[in-house]
Amino acid sequence: MTDPVNIADLERLAFEKLDPGAHGYFAGGAGDERTLRRNAAAYDDWELRPRVLVDVSEVSTRTTVLGTELEVPFLVAPVAFQLLAHADGEAGMARAAHAAGTVMCLSSLTSTRAAEVAQAAPEGRRWMQVYCFRDRGVTRAMVDEAAEAGYEALLLTVDAPYAGKRERDFRTGFEVPAEIRAPAIEAAAGHKSLTPAEVFALVDPSITWKDLEQLCGESKLPILVKGLITREDAGLAVEHGAAGIVVSNHGGRQLDNAPATIDALPECVEAVAGRIPVLIDGGIRRGTDVAVALALGADAVLIGRPALWGLAWDGEAGARRALEMLTHELRLALALLGCPTASALSADHVQRRA
Ligand SMILES: Cc1cc2nc3c(=O)[nH]c(=O)nc-3n(C[C@H](O)[C@H](O)[C@H](O)COP(=O)(O)O)c2cc1C
Repeated sequence: MTDPVNIADLERLAFEKLDPGAHGYFAGGAGDERTLRRNAAAYDDWELRPRVLVDVSEVSTRTTVLGTELEVPFLVAPVAFQLLAHADGEAGMARAAHAAGTVMCLSSLTSTRAAEVAQAAPEGRRWMQVYCFRDRGVTRAMVDEAAEAGYEALLLTVDAPYAGKRERDFRTGFEVPAEIRAPAIEAAAGHKSLTPAEVFALVDPSITWKDLEQLCGESKLPILVKGLITREDAGLAVEHGAAGIVVSNHGGRQLDNAPATIDALPECVEAVAGRIPVLIDGGIRRGTDVAVALALGADAVLIGRPALWGLAWDGEAGARRALEMLTHELRLALALLGCPTASALSADHVQRRA
């Protein structure tokens, strides 16, 4: 293939680079992968309504989320084991995020220590994703390490009390290779080595909204709840002290047959009613997809696999390329929509396809 021009090209290039087991782990979803496919396909059903004769000689993609100024209204989503994609791993991804002027969200299942990722891009902004572990001391140790290393917010992932049924991994017999470690959790839990299955066994499946409230009360860092897709849960997240929500179905890797996140977004935005920021991820592959999500009320989006495909293809440079592609596409989409700024996008710029 000649030079990649879009995320789909990067996905093909990543497929050529990765061995089948690793590719299946990154690309796959749960069950029949209905939700995985739906996340991306649902964007086909949201049309853009451009306004013309607006001065778009200057277009800005800038925004602010939770007080953090971003050059683009997207962040890099937490994705586990990035050293499995490329030797640049999470450090390369953090540098790519910084180059794009955005936040790197580090997975709890990072294959590089949180402090090392911070050192790789010291000027970069970073948030940490956490699970609530049965042993609250483990959760606390992870959060303390992240706070110490300059992580400014926490994403508490709540859609994975158990790991989803990822059938590609069963078919390929994929297991994370022994040399790829999960040092953040291992250190916090005081284990020398943990497999992903062992990590999930540490996650507390009994947590409820009361625990969220307690965590929010204790935490020095703002906590965003990641992984809800209903108006009921969006409202509860606000009531129980969340600093923000991420409308997410874990990229289709948890409950299969859940709706596409973009279809769940409007009801969550309505329930939150502007009280806290609403972010969304899942299936965003184009700058125009980012525009649809913002028009439907998201404050920003998270980018998962697209950045990962870039990383797998060409390390840090590839991840940068992925984020640049989305930035250029979004800037052009804003201009063609008659929106000189990302915040000018409104519900009037989208309609459901008849
Ligand atoms: C390979 C892979 C690993 C992931 N690991 C995590 C994780 O450790 N924690 C988490 O909260 N979400 C994780 N996610 C979910 C992402 O944060 C995000 O919700 C999802 O990738 C968004 O969908 P997209 O890939 O279509 O952009 C992972 C996703 C993928 C593809």
